[in-house]
Amino acid sequence: MKKILVTGGMGYIGSHTVVQLYEAGYEPIIVDNLVNSKPEVLNRIEKITGKRPLFYELDVRDEAGMNKIFDENDIFAVIHFAGLKSVGESVQKPKLYFDNNIGSTEVLLKVMEKHGCKNIVFSSSATVYGNPERVPIYEEDKLGPTTNPYGETKLRIEYLLKDVAKKDKEWNIVLLRYFNPIGAHKSGLIGEDPQGIPNNLMPYITQVAVGKLKQLRVFGDDYDTPDGTGVRDYIHVDDLAHGHILSIKKIEEKPGLLIYNLGTGLGTSVLELVHAFEEANNIKINYQIVERRPGDIAACYANADKAYREMGFKCTRTIVDACRDSWNWQKKNPKGYDK
Ligand code: NAD
Ligand code: WQD
Repeated sequence: MKKILVTGGMGYIGSHTVVQLYEAGYEPIIVDNLVNSKPEVLNRIEKITGKRPLFYELDVRDEAGMNKIFDENDIFAVIHFAGLKSVGESVQKPKLYFDNNIGSTEVLLKVMEKHGCKNIVFSSSATVYGNPERVPIYEEDKLGPTTNPYGETKLRIEYLLKDVAKKDKEWNIVLLRYFNPIGAHKSGLIGEDPQGIPNNLMPYITQVAVGKLKQLRVFGDDYDTPDGTGVRDYIHVDDLAHGHILSIKKIEEKPGLLIYNLGTGLGTSVLELVHAFEEANNIKINYQIVERRPGDIAACYANADKAYREMGFKCTRTIVDACRDSWNWQKKNPKGYDK
């Protein structure tokens, strides 16, 4: 069984990917410093898969610790999820974001190279397109300027990885640009567990539904979109996770550098998502239209044809499935992973 090191594997997307790695016949190993996740995730993964992944509680910037992981395990490839992801916090603490996100990638690449492991899948983001020139967005569309330090870290890591691929043809690198992940594993055992008040739309909706928050604020209804509210490409986290399995399979073909959008190709407005959630779960969501959120763009959705053409990536879950699964997770875990 090929061993796949999953940095940030205790997090939202990482934990779903770990489950699917087992299902696809790989052996995931997790490294995570738990800065934005909980140890309970391991128990949940074990409940779903019957297997408990080897877990290293470590900061990826800890070079000695990372060397030890590679000394102890014959790692075929790394899926690099570890990173800080709050846009607002990145504006307040840009140095922390640059140091954590870029610094961890630099250490990781150094340690991988030292151990002759030159296969990596990286969690990039639609945020690298900045304010897109057109929708849907194609991979070859203009990158940047980014609109916040978090997005800038993703763009700079992409540049770094592209340069690495250019210099040394032995590297196989897949850059995955995620659109907006929502939903949860169908068991309701793992899901998104934001710390404090959520920034993102779906966890906000589920916390209103569960009574933790009073009212959703819809940020603006005067955008140039069909109903005036912001349009995004919401992808079920299990479809997104599957994109990583396909990327690992692709890496087995030694492809060099590959770049893919991972989205559904469909734009959904804030109000459409709210109404889909209401219908899927038979719950009313109390909301109010307020001012636009600074920095938001009107519309952002993917053209994901390249990932389909080249690796057979296809979303099989609908927005309604995602709304049902997000709610299933939230209602079974009203406090997230905290008992
Ligand atoms: P998450 O916060 O749930 O998971 C990230 C994990 O990385 C956490 O468990 C955290 O503890 C860990 N981590 C952070 N810095 C670390 C470090 N220096 N060393 C070790 N572990 C560290 O986030 P997620 O939603 O699962 O996102 C995973 C990746 O995908 C991130 O890189 C994120 O930027 C990217 N991404 C996320 C989204 C999204 O909307 N969720 C969209 C696009 C891209
Ligand atoms: C979605 C829509 C809001 C909250 C962010 C990052 C991006 C990526 C994914 C990592 C927008 C509206 C939201 C609320 C609302 N992350 N909204 N009320 O901003 O598209 O993307 O997460 O890479 O980089 O920027 O996601 O979920 O915050 O917002 O009306 O309480 O919901 O205005 O139209 P966003 P989001």
